[in-house]
Amino acid sequence: MRRVLGIESSCDETGVALVDTGGPGVPRLLAHALHSQVAMHQAYGGVVPELASRDHIRRILPLATEVMARAGCTLGEVDVVAYTRGPGLAGALLVGAGVGCALGAALGKPVIGVHHLEGHLLSPLLSADAPEFPFVALLVSGGHTQLMQVDGVGRYALLGETIDDAAGEAFDKSAKLLGLGYPGGPALSRLAQQGDPEAFKLPRPLLHSGDLDFSFAGLKTAVLTQCKKLGDELSQRTADLAASTQAAIVEVLVKKSVAALDDTGLRRLVVAGGVGANRLLREQLNAACACRAVRVHYPELDLCTDNGAMIAMAAAMRLQAGVQQADTAYAFDVRPRWPLHDLAS
Ligand code: KG4
Ligand code: ZN
Repeated sequence: MRRVLGIESSCDETGVALVDTGGPGVPRLLAHALHSQVAMHQAYGGVVPELASRDHIRRILPLATEVMARAGCTLGEVDVVAYTRGPGLAGALLVGAGVGCALGAALGKPVIGVHHLEGHLLSPLLSADAPEFPFVALLVSGGHTQLMQVDGVGRYALLGETIDDAAGEAFDKSAKLLGLGYPGGPALSRLAQQGDPEAFKLPRPLLHSGDLDFSFAGLKTAVLTQCKKLGDELSQRTADLAASTQAAIVEVLVKKSVAALDDTGLRRLVVAGGVGANRLLREQLNAACACRAVRVHYPELDLCTDNGAMIAMAAAMRLQAGVQQADTAYAFDVRPRWPLHDLAS
């Protein structure tokens, strides 16, 4: 096993990448390519699953051709084909799994299904400054918000998670209320730069709960209440409300991450998932960790959101660690709902 091709199709990005496991240390990214469906879904204000699946079908093979050209090799030189098995949209996952298995069968190479969140979790290992195990991971994506203790590949213990909405969902839903469209997170954080984060008092749910769980559903309701209260005035106050919303989400994420570091006694924090691209979150985590002598690691900015590199990387690391085998049965299923701590089952 040397070259692993990764295919990501769990939601609204089609990603393909090739990693090389031949050298010493962690696998090396040879090339990756991505097609974002954001423009296509924008007209609908959110992801339309059927359109997402159809677009993945159109994109995967051309992206694979592009990746091979960039890496300077041919599909015949791929040793293993990896695809995202879950969690995500069932139809979208089936496209990646189907193409991955068909490609494996055509090339006579084994295939392996990968957990999308494990991809996010291990994506900082693709950066120049790769973290060593063990570490605390803050996983903040559109569908998940979790704190995990990561002792090694496949050795993940859940420390805390959201009991309702994910952090990304809080960004997206609040952005929608502010009329910022989809995807809301980046738009809200851009607008927030011009606003006053203390303009509105918004709740910090579960901040003092004494555990490592999160809750963001109440925040969205509070933003809705503010929007209604402001009425016609809202259009002049959107930047202030955006800044206040972002400040509330970030404060909770930072305080709970610090508590997880204190509880575990670990001195390394890895931030992964789309919300990890948020500038304020990075600034505040860096500041909180600097005074505790904790090292913080992030994926490269372009690998924070969904991509094929993290899938190829997670597959390569699982194979290297011997925790999973690739196979040539080419019979696949997908797991739209799949908790990361269930990975062994
Ligand atoms: O990890 P990801 O690409 O997809 C999932 O696996 O869910 O994360 C997407 C989420 C969305 O909720 C998006 O709004 C959020 O990440 N996001 C951001 C930023 N960039 C992406 N949220 C806040 N600030 C950002 N700069
Ligand atoms: Zn993701």
